[in-house]
Amino acid sequence: MPYARVNGNMLFYREAGDGPLALFVHGFPLDHSLWLDQLKGLAHVRRCVAVDLRGFGKSDPTVDPSLTMEMLADDLAGVIDALEADHADLVSLSMGGYVALALFELRPTLVRSLTLIDTRAAADTAEAGAARDALADRLLDRGRSVVATELIAGLLGRSPTRRAQARLRSMIEGTRYETFVAALRGMKERQDRTSLLSRIDVPVLVVGGQDDALIPVADIRAMAELVPRARTAIIPDAGHLPPIEQPDQLNQALIELFEGRKVVWWR
Ligand code: MLT
Repeated sequence: MPYARVNGNMLFYREAGDGPLALFVHGFPLDHSLWLDQLKGLAHVRRCVAVDLRGFGKSDPTVDPSLTMEMLADDLAGVIDALEADHADLVSLSMGGYVALALFELRPTLVRSLTLIDTRAAADTAEAGAARDALADRLLDRGRSVVATELIAGLLGRSPTRRAQARLRSMIEGTRYETFVAALRGMKERQDRTSLLSRIDVPVLVVGGQDDALIPVADIRAMAELVPRARTAIIPDAGHLPPIEQPDQLNQALIELFEGRKVVWWR
């Protein structure tokens, strides 16, 4: 199985296809398998690599008390280097988007295009930070299965398929407790990168699930407005996780980004 040794950790990745590198960065508390439909559907246009971030999935466990976005971004830079690529089309979801923005800030030349799915550039409010502490407490007191049930209800759209629910539960229940807690702390402490948006000078695709209960469509559009070269795709019948809820529509949007084509359903 493929691993990259980066910053002292073995990071797992799964790959499919040939050509320019596209690097897929999962959200919280998920893993590389979020992107299996993208690896299958985009292998004819890109060398698609879906990585497990530090501590997640099949990557090494971590004892870091906080998984900072900068630390995870530096890991991604190491993965791009280990894959012997000069740069990558970065496809990111939610927490993956926080990491992708940090990577663009730290190492902009590594990013050929940027896809931001159901994410935001702003930092946590005090209220959001307190909710993260409460989630960590519930996780440790009541266990992953209880928390998974709670999260599934909020992450998927209005009529989730049993398959999407099953995939999501596997990812959440497969996330180590210590990773869960450290990632919550890293997200709580993350920087506001709103001012970075106007400086992004590569093609950007901003995607929102029409029914995302965590990040409303209005927030997605407002973020896209701040990026000079952004296209926006709002995906119907999807919540926070279009890669597993509407994979074909997301893949189509990505192909159009990669090929520089204009599509009918942007915006
Ligand atoms: C995610 O999907 O990565 C999380 O919802 C992000 C967050 O909690 O801010």
